[in-house]
Amino acid sequence: MIYYFSATGNCKYVAQTIASELGERAESILEASADIHLAKDEVFGLVTPTYFWELPTVVREFLEKVEIECTGDNYSFVIATFGTTPGCTGEDARRLLKAKGLLLDAAYSIRMPDNWTVWFDLSDPEKVAKQNQKADETLKKVLGKIRKKEQGNHQALRVPYLMRTFTDKAFSSARMTSNLYLEDSCIGCGLCAKNCPVAAIEMQDGKPVWVKEQCALCFGCLHHCPKFAIQYGNGATKKHGQYTHP
Ligand SMILES: Cc1cc2nc3c(=O)[nH]c(=O)nc-3n(C[C@H](O)[C@H](O)[C@H](O)COP(=O)(O)O)c2cc1C
Ligand code: SF4
Ligand code: SF4
Repeated sequence: MIYYFSATGNCKYVAQTIASELGERAESILEASADIHLAKDEVFGLVTPTYFWELPTVVREFLEKVEIECTGDNYSFVIATFGTTPGCTGEDARRLLKAKGLLLDAAYSIRMPDNWTVWFDLSDPEKVAKQNQKADETLKKVLGKIRKKEQGNHQALRVPYLMRTFTDKAFSSARMTSNLYLEDSCIGCGLCAKNCPVAAIEMQDGKPVWVKEQCALCFGCLHHCPKFAIQYGNGATKKHGQYTHP
């Protein structure tokens, strides 16, 4: 089984491609059972975005609550999609899975369009298409390594696990929902509230309201809004466009 979390489609695409090539199934962790029973020789894969050099909180919480029963013959890997660096996501996943009795065989990474549009400009469709073409090339290579059941951490540009001391703090303050705001163009369709993975948005009097102090900061609401009415921070996101994997 290939598990994934995906707000804007990069990880969903990678998980579904790998699953179909390996004859496995891909499943979103938001719909997955917390009891995983791996059959003999079944592959365990996890495809996750990188947030602030770490695993997204949604993924961390999934790995903390899940119970995994494995046979000892299961090849297991994590793939972090990323824009600039996958940070310590591989080591992060390795530690969390080890606590569940699953020894991670390999960690990989695939550079893809960076949906942290506070900094990164995804407004040029040609540039974005090129980034996705390159990602496809890396995906093929990763798939080759998975087929050979390679071992070890193959992630590009990783940072020491120790860095989590700093990134945790930055991520925690970035996740304050007070950083997200609504523009007048909102038509009250409710899509953002329906799809928020942590139910941080509720519709009140026909408009979305952030009802939790912190959220997962997945940027799904910002990138999927049909009116691009959700922005973040100083509003640089407005210039940098919306992104979803084609
Ligand atoms: C809050 C946030 C933080 C991010 N932090 C990083 C990061 O530290 N390093 C990086 O390379 N990419 C970072 N990204 C980019 C995503 O990891 C990348 O675009 C990923 O492929 C998105 O996956 P998805 O489309 O499946 O949601 C960040 C994105 C968000 C929304
Ligand atoms: S998805 Fe956009 S338009 Fe729809 S309710 Fe949310 S903010 Fe408004
Ligand atoms: S409020 Fe938006 S950014 Fe935060 S978790 Fe929900 S969908 Fe993601």
